[in-house]
Amino acid sequence: LINPSLKDKKILISAGPTRESIDPIRFFTNHSSGKMGFALAEEAARLGAEVTLIAGPVSLNTPRNVKRVDVTTAEEMFQQMSMYYPNQDIVIKAAAVADYRPVVIHDRKMKKSDGNLSIDMERTKDILLTLGEMKTTQYLVGFAAETDEILTYGKQKLEKKHLDAIVINDVKAEGAGFATSTNAVTFVSKKGIEKDLPLATKNVIAQEILELIHLELKDEEK
Ligand code: PMT
Repeated sequence: LINPSLKDKKILISAGPTRESIDPIRFFTNHSSGKMGFALAEEAARLGAEVTLIAGPVSLNTPRNVKRVDVTTAEEMFQQMSMYYPNQDIVIKAAAVADYRPVVIHDRKMKKSDGNLSIDMERTKDILLTLGEMKTTQYLVGFAAETDEILTYGKQKLEKKHLDAIVINDVKAEGAGFATSTNAVTFVSKKGIEKDLPLATKNVIAQEILELIHLELKDEEK
């Protein structure tokens, strides 16, 4: 590993799940612990970057020298990400954002009955797609959590969301994906880098991702 300096770089990172309420008691969410995004924030700050971390509901300590903004819903994450977005050099979306939310949020506890329950859900905004469409000079990196044909689906997201790179996560692989302290991913860039980053701690994977981004940016500066 080389140790790229990210001094003077502004980096915006999202981490963790979002939480979409049904009533004051219940909500929809997913298995993201925030570890991958927090590891990226910690390593980026260690390399000298000015880091803003938009975090969904997780129980992790804020890494040193990182500005953390806590959010709950996909809509709140969208608001904060788009506010910080314009003057960033690098943006990495490691969060697992809800794709759907209940159409109605009840303000009192829903009472149960004997029958089945159906809840009407509507799509949330695709934050990454919107950021991709608003892109000026930011180097924009998405994550893709996949279970099948991971390279095909991952590369489709790279194209469709106008990204510079995507980190493809086979969440069925041993030791990889949600809530583990290790991960194994494939980094694919628009310029054509395709690199497997084999099983390692999320901090090491984060260092490798940042190094690849740094190499791509250095290439652009030439
Ligand atoms: O948090 P950990 O427990 O450490 O787990 C890490 C992780 C598995 C969550 C992480 O490595 C990961 O893969 N994050 C992306 C999870 C995900 O939601 O993937 P996706 O394929 O559904 O979404 C693709 C991309 O679009 C992601 O960058 C996501 O942030 C973004 N997205 C998705 C939906 C939406 N409404 N808005 C978005 O911006």
